[in-house]
Amino acid sequence: MAKTIAICNQKGGVGKTTTAVNLAASLAVLEKNTLLIDIDPQANASQSVGIDEVQEEDIYEALTLMESPEAATAHLSQMIKPLSPEYKLEYLKVLPSSPGLAKLEIELVNAASREYRLQRLVNAIRPNFDYIIIDAPPSLNLLTINTLAAADSVIIPVQCEYLSLQGVAELLNTIQLAQNNLNKNLKIEGALLTMFDSRNSLSKQVIEEVRNNFPGRVFNTVIPRNVKLAEAPSHGKPIMLYDIQSAGSHAYMKLTEELLNG
Ligand SMILES: Nc1ncnc2c1ncn2[C@@H]1O[C@H](COP(=O)(O)OP(=O)(O)O)[C@@H](O)[C@H]1O
Ligand SMILES: [Mg+2]
Repeated sequence: MAKTIAICNQKGGVGKTTTAVNLAASLAVLEKNTLLIDIDPQANASQSVGIDEVQEEDIYEALTLMESPEAATAHLSQMIKPLSPEYKLEYLKVLPSSPGLAKLEIELVNAASREYRLQRLVNAIRPNFDYIIIDAPPSLNLLTINTLAAADSVIIPVQCEYLSLQGVAELLNTIQLAQNNLNKNLKIEGALLTMFDSRNSLSKQVIEEVRNNFPGRVFNTVIPRNVKLAEAPSHGKPIMLYDIQSAGSHAYMKLTEELLNG
């Protein structure tokens, strides 16, 4: 039965997609059956693993069909894609997104169980995976609510820059609302410091600030700013396939070990 971890922060550009993709790929390298769910209409996670064309059916159809899960479940296996065989990452599968997902919020405005579409989907496929990693959109909208309803836990990437904790309080409030109303078992896995620059003294101050003020665990692993991590998506590859020796690759493997070892 898969553990489902969502990568959330309503701020854009903090490293959500980079974390979702590379955590999922690291788990797959460790031979954990892993599904990466892209629920951001920008579809960056899909592109980052080489799925750059709009698919016939993707998460939009999956969430629409989840109005009646019985009918949808048989369909799901077609929507879940393997990576290119040359990647040799058989343990990683993807449920891709596309810009069309943005219209779902309006289409579901009066729909039954609109908050629980992703939860139903996850519950239908949980037996097939060890880990399900969800890349959330940069907003606090219905897609994020679906994400919080579906997840077992949340990782919050926090960029090592001034004022990065602003907005985290709002996210923590939303998580608490989700715990009270949608998903009482939802846990905070921890905050993850991203884009750390050792030459920047501000970066060090931010680490201290987050470690002192974040209500909960902060991962010991800190993700450094690393140009290879920024280059890999344009090659459609997780960092382990793009440059396994890079500092970014080491950091995400270390994060994965930290997560697995509790
Ligand atoms: N550790 C890092 N080092 C260098 N560049 C990074 C790092 N993490 C993310 N980036 C780059 O920063 C940008 C924003 O990251 P991304 O993961 O897409 O954030 P989000 O999903 O939160 O919007 C992307 O261009 C990405 O390649
Ligand atoms: Mg993103």
